[in-house]
Formats: sequence, structure tokens, C-alpha cells
Amino acid sequence: MALLPIITAPDPRLKTVADPVAVVDGEIRKLVDDMYDTMYDAPGIGLAAVQVGVMKRVLVMDVIGKNAKEGDPQPHALINPEITWVSDHDSTYEEGCLSVPQHYAEVVRPAEVKVKYLDVDGQEQELEADGLLATCVQHEIDHLDGILFVDHISALKRNMILRKLLKIKKQAS
Ligand code: NI
Repeated sequence: MALLPIITAPDPRLKTVADPVAVVDGEIRKLVDDMYDTMYDAPGIGLAAVQVGVMKRVLVMDVIGKNAKEGDPQPHALINPEITWVSDHDSTYEEGCLSVPQHYAEVVRPAEVKVKYLDVDGQEQELEADGLLATCVQHEIDHLDGILFVDHISALKRNMILRKLLKIKKQAS
């Protein structure tokens, strides 16, 4: 088990577009394992590789969670994910992010999506998601494009959150 340090905003790496994975090899599978450990430990329901400083298009999710009392864990690892379809109707969730600690905001996104991706064996798969999983996968794919959930809210609220996070960073350094 390896826990990776999570980057918090503001940080230029969180604004960077991640590179596609060329070959799904042992290095990528190790990254996925470490990302699961890091996500469950945090704890969080999703984590993108850019959040641990790896600029590759890899994400993990589990909206149930390893220690949830209701239901079994539902781990998903998506490599080079691409949204292929979105529903006409939207849903609103109060989102948070391990890279934007202790701040939450309502974000409107399509309520259902289809995503094609490579699994850890390099095989092409499709995920059909609704509910929290649909929101989560869109949030994580945003990370791979250098977008944070705060980029979906008003500039006023976003700047207020980022200023507070910057202040915490300055105090810590
Ligand atoms: Ni996030």
C-alpha cells in the first residue's frame, strides 16, 4: 500500500491538461493501485492522476466506498476516458474535491453519461452512469482537462475559495 500526496489548489498542475496513456502496463496498474489506496484513505469517492502529480489520463472512483455499511465497494478505474453521450436533463450535486479541501458548491451537470475508456488490462470498455456516479465521473474527467469544480461556479465564489486556500498554504509554508 502506498499513499500518494494530494495536490491542493491553487497549483498550476491542477490547471494542466493530462496526456493520454500510450500503453497500459505495470507502471499504470501500480499507479491505479496507489490511487485507490490514496482515495480510500483520504477518504474520497474519486481521484484523478493529476491530483497526485501524474499528468496522465487515469482516474479511480468508488461512490460507495471501501468501508460503507450499505452495499459492496464499487471500484472503477478508467484510463483515457472519453464522454461519448450526455443526457438532455441535468442534475445538481453539492460537490467537493480532495484538491479543494473543506469547500463545497452546487454544480449542475448532465444527469446521465456514457464514457468509453480502457480498463487496467488495456481493454476498451463503456460505463453508463447516472446519479452520483455520473457527477463523479464528469468531475474526475474535468481534472484530466485542468478543470476544477470551482470553475463551474461564479468567479466571485471561486476567487473567494481560492484566496482562502492560498492563505492556508502560505501559513503552512
Ligand atoms: Ni476533485
